[in-house]
Amino acid sequence: MAKRKVKNDFQPRIVVFACNWCSYPAADAAGINRLQYPPNVRIIRTMCMGRVNPAFVLKALEMGADGVLVSGCHFEDCHYSFGARKAAEQYQKLEKIVQLLGIEKGRIRQEFISAAEFPKFVQVVHEMVEQVRKLGPNPLAKSLLPGHKEKREEMAVN
Ligand code: FES
Repeated sequence: MAKRKVKNDFQPRIVVFACNWCSYPAADAAGINRLQYPPNVRIIRTMCMGRVNPAFVLKALEMGADGVLVSGCHFEDCHYSFGARKAAEQYQKLEKIVQLLGIEKGRIRQEFISAAEFPKFVQVVHEMVEQVRKLGPNPLAKSLLPGHKEKREEMAVN
């Protein structure tokens, strides 16, 4: 894939699907412990990472997210027994779909982050924002309906 020039001030928008039982509390604990992470992320709480269908990630990318992080419990901590394992399987499929669509693999990421691992949550968010910043705006977002581009700029992170 050809490398694109990226504006220095590009602020990527990252959607984070975070499990209610581990990664969402980790994000919360980061705030309580005054660990800052970039404001580029929008967190969507889900009951289990296994509930995050690959279609949700593709939809987020289609709607203009520059990157998507899917985060949940470690396998042994999943409240729904097999949810995290199912999510790991789904993620492998998602990686293939993303590749077929010509989207850079670095725009998606899956992480297993417990509530106690809030510094890891912060680190992953920092890494993801930097990685996606280097990739530039999501090319899939170009296919958005007319008017979406203006709306995206209006909603841009300042
Ligand atoms: S309950 Fe957190 S990943 Fe299943």
